[in-house]
Amino acid sequence: MKIFLDTGNLDELKKAAQWGIVDGVTTNPSLIAKEGKKIEDQIAAICEIIDGDISAEVVSTKAEDMIPEGRKLAKIHKNVVVKVPLTRDGIIACSTLSKEGIRLNVTLCFSAGQALLAAKAGAYIISPFVGRIDDMGGNGVDLIRQICTIYKNYNFKTQVLAASLRTPPHVIDCALAGAHIGTMPFKTLDMLFNHPLTDKGLEQFMKDWAKVFEPTK
Ligand code: G3P
Repeated sequence: MKIFLDTGNLDELKKAAQWGIVDGVTTNPSLIAKEGKKIEDQIAAICEIIDGDISAEVVSTKAEDMIPEGRKLAKIHKNVVVKVPLTRDGIIACSTLSKEGIRLNVTLCFSAGQALLAAKAGAYIISPFVGRIDDMGGNGVDLIRQICTIYKNYNFKTQVLAASLRTPPHVIDCALAGAHIGTMPFKTLDMLFNHPLTDKGLEQFMKDWAKVFEPTK
């Protein structure tokens, strides 16, 4: 599974980039607004840090406005993937822009039926929001499983990007369900490192080594 960071924060991206395990970045209007910079500048800066797919979302809601906005975002950098919401207008924009060779991430997906529509419209990525489904008492991982099965049944090339991943079990369960990509905040990615037995084991290795080779330490 590819790992994407769901952030617009350059410090978080630089820190995670050092680990060499980040394959791409997703942003949304809330994340870009948090950084307070023009979207063109922020996305260009992100493209300098991570060499992979970088999602930039439109803020127009009508197809006739989303289409030129999407073309503009796509021009920022060759790695930009234009994000549109899963609305009727978003699907028109997806069908139109994908025919022009622009790669689309269709976001705010909460059902398998919606995911089918996005694939039919030529989406490069579909983004089902796992955590937000769980928040409503549903099962976000089940949705990932359903979408992966439908896409496999009909050989759709659209990649399933599990979004809104808040915990390590979310990440593991989505990988088991077959998601192509998992996008997560820095905090979730950082938590994936942690295991008390790793810390305990390392402490013991260091102690045993020091007893023999560094007895005065
Ligand atoms: O990319 C979608 C993601 O940002 C949503 O996450 O935690 O706000 O539901 P969350």
